[in-house]
Amino acid sequence: MTTNSIQVTAAPDHSLPGEPVETRTVGQISVQQPVLSARAVNIFYGAKQAIKDINLDIGLHSVTALIGPSGCGKSTFLRSMNRMNDTIPGARMTGRITLDGEDIYSGDQDVVQLRARVGMVFQQPNPFPKSIYENVAYGPRIHGLAVTRADLDVIVQSSLQKAGLWSEVKDRLSHPGTGLSGGQQQRLCIARAMAVDPEVILMDEPCSALDPVATARIEDLIDELRDKYTIVIVTHNMQQAARVSQRTAYFHMGELIEVGATNQIFTNPGHRLTEDYITGRFG
Ligand SMILES: Nc1ncnc2c1ncn2[C@@H]1O[C@H](COP(=O)(O)OP(=O)(O)O)[C@@H](O)[C@H]1O
Ligand SMILES: [Mg+2]
Repeated sequence: MTTNSIQVTAAPDHSLPGEPVETRTVGQISVQQPVLSARAVNIFYGAKQAIKDINLDIGLHSVTALIGPSGCGKSTFLRSMNRMNDTIPGARMTGRITLDGEDIYSGDQDVVQLRARVGMVFQQPNPFPKSIYENVAYGPRIHGLAVTRADLDVIVQSSLQKAGLWSEVKDRLSHPGTGLSGGQQQRLCIARAMAVDPEVILMDEPCSALDPVATARIEDLIDELRDKYTIVIVTHNMQQAARVSQRTAYFHMGELIEVGATNQIFTNPGHRLTEDYITGRFG
């Protein structure tokens, strides 16, 4: 994979008079090994613009956290990366998003295939009203990843193992997924996403409906998963962003204000708006 060529110089309020300004975002939007790349992305709901000229790369096998006040466009931007906004009437996008260098909005993109490669986990755990086994087996079955029942059994078991759920459910695979605890349901949804062998997993506030113990389990799981997957997580919990991510992007009123190493964003932010947010003065 190649490094994308767009480089950031400085934000307007950091640049000296006469210095070139190529984008408003503070920090390095490009990364060495981009999996997803957004360029000049604008998203509208009807006449309302929710996302304004976002440029951002998502790096391979790392966790990128999207943070910012409620309504700043985190979920909207997240959904643009697997075309989930296509399902919202009146939503419209301009700009370009590539996955492994290919435009995901091109006419010949198979959206079902795209959503298998870029899976999603939502705020509320949403298992299908089916058995634990069927929740995980459904995707591989419709994508033709298993020829025999034995193949499917292997995928179901390994996905549940990767999600840290196998030992808790192996004796009740035929029980309904909705009968599990909230934290288990969320790990089931993560297993379901992994069962179709995705490259990227998008998570939209995956712990906001969970208690602290269940949250800690999911955070540990996210940390383990980045060995094999590229993860983008939206969170309103800054401690969570600091704990699980390597790179953090701060959004404000639809704009990407700053992006950088999570360490740096939380200890030495480059933009006043980021600083105000992380110190609790705003949001
Ligand atoms: N389906 C929708 N229809 C119309 N407006 C929406 C829709 N979803 C989000 N918005 C608006 O877009 C903006 C960004 O929302 P969202 O992406 O949900 O922000 P966040 O996830 O950061 O809280 C908000 O002003 C919100 O009201
Ligand atoms: Mg949201």
